Amino acid sequence: MEKQRDLLFLCLVLSCSSSFLPWVSSSEGGLEKVSPQRLFVFGDSYADTGNTEKLSGGWHPPYGSTFPGEPSGRFSDGLVLTDYVASFLGIESPQPYTWRNDVNKTLLQHGMNFAFGGTGVFDTMAREPNMTTQIDYFQSSVEQNVYTKHDLSSSVALVSLAGNDYAAFTMKNGNQEELPSFITSVIDQLVYNLKRIKGLGVGKIAVTALEPLGCLPQITTVSSFKNCSSNWNSITRLHNHQLRRSLQELKKNESMMGPSSPSSSSALVILDLHSAFVSALNMLRHQSGNLSENPLKPCCVGVTEGYSCGNVGDKGVKNYVLCNHPETSFFWDNIHPSQNGWHAVYSFLHSSLHRLL
Ligand SMILES: *[C@@H]1O[C@H](CO)[C@@H](O)[C@H](O)[C@H]1NC(C)=O
Ligand SMILES: *[C@@H]1O[C@H](CO)[C@@H](O)[C@H](O)[C@H]1NC(C)=O
Ligand SMILES: *[C@@H]1O[C@H](CO)[C@@H](O)[C@H](O)[C@H]1NC(C)=O
Ligand SMILES: *[C@@H]1O[C@H](CO)[C@@H](O)[C@H](O)[C@H]1NC(C)=O
Ligand SMILES: *[C@@H]1O[C@H](CO)[C@@H](O)[C@H](O)[C@H]1NC(C)=O
Repeated sequence: MEKQRDLLFLCLVLSCSSSFLPWVSSSEGGLEKVSPQRLFVFGDSYADTGNTEKLSGGWHPPYGSTFPGEPSGRFSDGLVLTDYVASFLGIESPQPYTWRNDVNKTLLQHGMNFAFGGTGVFDTMAREPNMTTQIDYFQSSVEQNVYTKHDLSSSVALVSLAGNDYAAFTMKNGNQEELPSFITSVIDQLVYNLKRIKGLGVGKIAVTALEPLGCLPQITTVSSFKNCSSNWNSITRLHNHQLRRSLQELKKNESMMGPSSPSSSSALVILDLHSAFVSALNMLRHQSGNLSENPLKPCCVGVTEGYSCGNVGDKGVKNYVLCNHPETSFFWDNIHPSQNGWHAVYSFLHSSLHRLL
C-alpha cells in the first residue's frame, strides 16, 4: 500500500510513465520484481524495534501508546525509522534478532533487526552489543545459512548511528574539546563496519548522517527548548562532512578496482537525518498554524531533571508528563522523534530511499 502511495508521489512529480517504475524491470519479456526482499538493520534506538532488554525505556508505558498500543521496545510512541524504511521497500518490518528463536521462522524471510538502543560503533554507557558485535551476529546467521547468497544480494542494510558514541565520550571526558579528533575514529570504525556488511554480500546499504544533535530536547532543555546548541550542531556538521568524504573515497577506491562492480557506486546511500530533521521541524512549525507551538519541545518529559519519560516512582506515581497531542509533536522524548516526527522525517528521505530500489 505504501508503495502505491510512493508511486502516486512519483507520478505527481514526474508525470507518470512506466519507465518511472524503478522496482519493476521488464527484462526477460515480463514484469519482474526487482525491489529488495529483505532488510537487515544495525545501530541504535532510532532503528531498534525490540532488541533491548525489558528493563530499558522502550519497554515502559507510555512508549508504544500510538503503535502497537503498548510498549514494544521501540523508543517512540509508535513507529520508528526502521518501520518506515521497511514500508518503503514494501516488506514487513524485520523481526528483532533477540526474538529469532521465539518467532515463526517464516518471518525471518524479511530480514532481521540487529539494532540495540543506546549503542554506538564503540562501547557506550549502554551494556548492549556495539555495532561490531551486531555485525558478528549477522555474520553467524549468514554462516549458518539462514540466508543464501542470492537472498543477501537482493537485500538492503540500514545502519543507524545517532550519536551515542559522542554522548558517552563527553560523559567520560567531561567536556567536548577532544570531540573533533574522536569524530575521525568514529567515522573510520563506521566505514570499516559498512565494508564488512558489504563484504558479507548485502546488495545495498543506507547509512544515516547525524541528526542535528544540538536541537535534541536533551540539549535544548537548558533554554526551555528554544535554542539549538551551535556547539553540538557543529559536531554534527563535522561528523557528516567526514562521513561524506570517506564514502566518496570508498567509492573511488572501489571504482579503481575495476569495472567488476558496476553497481557499487549506487550501493551506498546516505540518509541525511540532518536536513530531514530540519525540514520536518520547519514543516511542523508552519503546519500547526499556531506559531506559539514549539516543535523542539518533546511530548513526554520527566517532571524534574532527574526523571525521564516512562519513569514511575513508588506507589505507581508517574514522574513524567505527557503532551495532549502526540500526533502533532516532533519529539517524543528527550532524544527520539515521535511517530509523527519520524513520518515527517521519512517524507524528506524519499528521494534517497528511491536509490535503494
Ligand atoms: C508460520 O507462518 C506461515 C505463514 O504465515 C504458516 O503457514 C505456518 O503454519 C506458520 N508456522 C507455524 C509453526 O506456526
Ligand atoms: C565491541 O564489543 C566487543 C565485545 O564486548 C569488544 O570486544 C569490542 O572491542 C568492541 N568493539 C569496538 C569497536 O569497540
Ligand atoms: C535564544 O533564542 C532567542 C530567540 O530565538 C534569542 O533571543 C536568544 O538570544 C537566544 N539565547 C541564546 C543564549 O543564544
Ligand atoms: C582507500 O584506499 C586507500 C589506499 O589503499 C586507503 O588508505 C584508504 O583507507 C581507503 N579509503 C577507504 C574509505 O576505504
Ligand atoms: C497554540 O499553542 C499554545 C501552546 O501550545 C496553546 O496554549 C494555544 O492554545 C494554541 N492556540 C491555538 C489557537 O490552538
